[in-house]
Amino acid sequence: MFVCVSLNPAVDKCLALAVLQLGKVNRAAKAEGAPGGKAAHVAMVLKTLGADPLWLGFAGGSAGAALVAGLRELQIKVEAVAIAGETRTNLEIIEDDARVTEVLEPGPAIAEEELQRFQATFQRILAKSAEPATVVFSGSLPPGLPSDYYATLIRLAHAQRGRVLLDASGEALKLGLAAGPDFVKPNQHEAESLSGSTIHDTACAEEVLQRVMQLGAKAAAISLGAAGIVWRSERDEQTLIARVPKQVSRSCVGSGDATVAGFAYAAAHALSPVEALRLASACGVANCLAVAPGRARAADIARMKDLVRVDTLVAEREDVRHAK
Ligand SMILES: Nc1ncnc2c1ncn2[C@@H]1O[C@H](COP(=O)(O)OP(=O)(O)OP(=O)(O)O)[C@@H](O)[C@H]1O
Ligand SMILES: [Mg+2]
Repeated sequence: MFVCVSLNPAVDKCLALAVLQLGKVNRAAKAEGAPGGKAAHVAMVLKTLGADPLWLGFAGGSAGAALVAGLRELQIKVEAVAIAGETRTNLEIIEDDARVTEVLEPGPAIAEEELQRFQATFQRILAKSAEPATVVFSGSLPPGLPSDYYATLIRLAHAQRGRVLLDASGEALKLGLAAGPDFVKPNQHEAESLSGSTIHDTACAEEVLQRVMQLGAKAAAISLGAAGIVWRSERDEQTLIARVPKQVSRSCVGSGDATVAGFAYAAAHALSPVEALRLASACGVANCLAVAPGRARAADIARMKDLVRVDTLVAEREDVRHAK
């Protein structure tokens, strides 16, 4: 069983513009709404991979209702914890030259009573799962929640034999690591902030990966955009690197979420470290080809699996700096 937890979910609104003009009135050629937040993207990709994920998160107001309806339309099981605040809307502005600007709302504050209801629901779901659950925590914490809240949830999940994947940034990631998640996947920027080191090349990437594991992760991957992924599994003594076919066509927003879905699927199905990395990388690349974040197609994932190159990392001065 997969549980994709969204503490600060969103409706994604995608606006297509010829050119975004700052300080001016801009008229969008196209506006499309879709269920969003990182956990929704993870659930969508897990569904495409053939799993039957459950999305668990807060939902409030008309945006919350649209989010829940959109997930159900995609045949994703939903456990929505009702809140008084309005679920946020995140903007993704795509210009004709494929430049992407994201504007993320902070999200509504969560009341103490709402948080308690969420926690009780989370524990009930884990308790009634016949087999150990694979729990994916993705994204930011809503305003007002303690920064170590992921650590609290990770301990609760572990107490019920769950396997935990964490995709967060800043303090939420740092403090979450202290609870020993089974896997984390920072992107380059998140890994650099966490470690205080800059990743210029594969040697730096390997050092930072080890640092992330020293901070508490049992296994970790750092995604490097078009430069691929470095990863070290719990089972493997060596670091692997995936090199991916670079995509320039459209927005790659959500590729990290798709990657996390691939790693979650691989963990639950006990794929080998090489196969896990191949699948996760293919999910990330396929997301770049999709109509919207999380909507990677099964055929693209299958095709990309054959095009991804996985090697043992030889830490050298190979440039891995990337542009999205
Ligand atoms: N331009 C690209 N071309 C090919 N593959 C890409 C590209 N961008 C991303 N990917 C694939 O997706 C993976 C995740 O991308 P990235 O490191 O940008 O994640 P991220 O910043 O966490 O994304 P998000 O948080 O928006 O989901 C990469 O490791 C790579 O496999
Ligand atoms: Mg990410």
